[in-house]
Amino acid sequence: PIMKEVSGLKHLEHKLKEILNIQEVIIVSGDSDQNELVKKEMGRACASRMKKSFTSNNIIAITGGSTLAAVAEMMTPDIEGRKLMFFPARGGLGEYVENQANTIVAKMAEKTMGQYKLLHVPDQVSEDAYASLVEEPAIKDALEMLKRATMVVHGIGDAMNMVKRRKHDQETTQKIIDGQAVGEAFGYYFDADGKIVHKVRTIGLQLEYLQNVPCIIAVAGGASKARAIQAVMKQEQGRKTILITDEGAARALIQDY
Ligand code: BG6
Repeated sequence: PIMKEVSGLKHLEHKLKEILNIQEVIIVSGDSDQNELVKKEMGRACASRMKKSFTSNNIIAITGGSTLAAVAEMMTPDIEGRKLMFFPARGGLGEYVENQANTIVAKMAEKTMGQYKLLHVPDQVSEDAYASLVEEPAIKDALEMLKRATMVVHGIGDAMNMVKRRKHDQETTQKIIDGQAVGEAFGYYFDADGKIVHKVRTIGLQLEYLQNVPCIIAVAGGASKARAIQAVMKQEQGRKTILITDEGAARALIQDY
């Protein structure tokens, strides 16, 4: 029975890869909406997939979220002794401390005996503050570093769930609702066709930077995130993305085909 289950997931992985038109899909069994342990398994699968793609010198940009926090928990030192530098992809995005990218990169560095840098940027900065912050030498260095990222590992959120979590002001919330956003990644909100509806103004990785990143890993699961995953995978970088997900999201996604 175990073999059967494994081959079933392999089939599902293949099908989902075709449907989403992306580089690779890894599915863990179960649904993380129903069972917290499934999120941990996604974390484990992601940590091990990351290792496969490390090079001798790595700049690894990481987003926030509870799924990325689960990835950090599962990381272990690299026996090949490759250099690992963890870096937050974007500045403050209104998360609880344990789910902030800054916290997660510190954890990843601790678990792998690697290094990390923090991005100290306030949440959703004003236009003026943004303009002066990007001129700060420390921030300039950080942005240069992000442009040279060798790997990006990011979460995906259901748009309305992220609106609630981030407590956006009324105007922003309305814009996201009116734009019929379904998915969110890196602080960008996307509609079902993958069109950008709104972008949180903060320092860090811009969607365009992804063009130069050789390895992109998205990790997100739970049936409730199916539409969000689909929207985010429609982005240009989708074609070279490795998606780590769970059976719950995968089955919900395939249902529509
Ligand atoms: C946030 C990121 O911290 O986590 C988002 O800024 C991401 O880009 C979200 O979509 C995912 O959160 P979770 O808890 O569902 O993994």
